[in-house]
Amino acid sequence: MDNFTYCTPTRYLFGKDTENQAGKMTAEMGCKNIMLVYGHGSVVRSGLLDRVKKSLDQANITYTELSGIDPNPTDDRVYEGIEIVRQKNIDGFLAVGGGSVIDTAKAIALGVPYDGDFWDFYSGKANANTATALPVGVVLTIPAAGSEGSGNSVITRKEGLHKISLRTDFTLRPKFAILNPELTFTLPQSQTVAGIADMMAHIMERYFTPTTDVEVTDRISEGILKAIIEEAPKVIARPDDYQARANIMWAGTMAHNGICGCGRVEDWVSHAMEHEISAVYGVTHGAGLAVVFPAWLTFMANHASAKPAQFARRVFGVNNHDDKSAALEGITALRGFFLSLGLPVTFGMLGIETPDIDLLVKKLHENKGEIIGGYYRLTQADTYEIYKMMLNGDI
Ligand code: NZQ
Ligand code: ZN
Repeated sequence: MDNFTYCTPTRYLFGKDTENQAGKMTAEMGCKNIMLVYGHGSVVRSGLLDRVKKSLDQANITYTELSGIDPNPTDDRVYEGIEIVRQKNIDGFLAVGGGSVIDTAKAIALGVPYDGDFWDFYSGKANANTATALPVGVVLTIPAAGSEGSGNSVITRKEGLHKISLRTDFTLRPKFAILNPELTFTLPQSQTVAGIADMMAHIMERYFTPTTDVEVTDRISEGILKAIIEEAPKVIARPDDYQARANIMWAGTMAHNGICGCGRVEDWVSHAMEHEISAVYGVTHGAGLAVVFPAWLTFMANHASAKPAQFARRVFGVNNHDDKSAALEGITALRGFFLSLGLPVTFGMLGIETPDIDLLVKKLHENKGEIIGGYYRLTQADTYEIYKMMLNGDI
């Protein structure tokens, strides 16, 4: 096990009616005049936005709305937000929605006190860990990206379609996150299952590590994965199953708030490969991951099969003593699970008939470096091979 520091300072309010505490929590994070950020209207249709506004009014908090944030959010809305916040002396954010909304709020929060272009943080020109950001609170409506507990923000620069994940230790961790599973009843099935693939990927990116003797962190990860696999069919069968939704929601937060990474090197190649796909083709991030992860794992079954074999045995109960064979059986089980939820496992199923793999590989290595990956170091030839595997799902 490696040395580590673990601190997840976000205050989580979990359960029914917790959104009614949004005003009180916003006041407690020291804000009086905030930006209320949301997406394309799901929170309006569900009545959630009205309840949040009422709660803000009761706490005497004024707000300016920034709405219509797109999935896979882009830099133009961040620049727009920074200007409004500066003009109106806004002192914090309440993001009501999913990862796209939260990440936009985080990017604005970081950009406002900074003298230069906020993109400097995403391009690596400026260090966000030593920067200051305005405080961000969250009312989560979709368990998926895990941004409600992470220090990360993922934004796409429209020029050149660069989708970059900015990772900070603390700067961008939300001050509080309100998690009411009932708010997820209205999710379309396609978003529910994409969220499930995303949270599983967040755990697996940390699970596949070259670090040995991380038994506790391994077992925490395997336990959450097994719980997700058990609860997922229940939310598909009955979208208003409160207990199943509650388990999935908490799993999504635990998957990405750092607990599954303690004491080890993490991988993150599957995310990097997917970010290129969603940047270029605009697909849902979690659906893209359902295509990428089994392909990446297949490459690993051929090159570094020990951990994929452990994953297969412990998460899917595979009983095979040969590592490579066990790993391949685990991949079949993982792909079968994704398919059972209605997730895609090939480019074609994702709606991309003729992907430009040369472009994806070029952008991937431009953004992430010549050789990438924490579990196994991958060259351009390797990532090309992995993208090719996604064409037919014969993995
Ligand atoms: O825009 P509205 O109308 O709100 O609709 C949204 C959107 O279309 C809808 N939705 C959300 N909650 C709903 C709902 N519809 C009905 N009922 C509800 N309760 O769902 C759609 C997707 O929303 P989005 O915020 O895009 O989803 P998600 O949370 O999956 O976020 C995806 C973004 O997060 C990034 C992804 O790359 C992508 O850009 N990620 C962020 C991470 C982070 N900050 O730590 C890590 C992740 O790995 C990920 O990369
Ligand atoms: Zn993700």
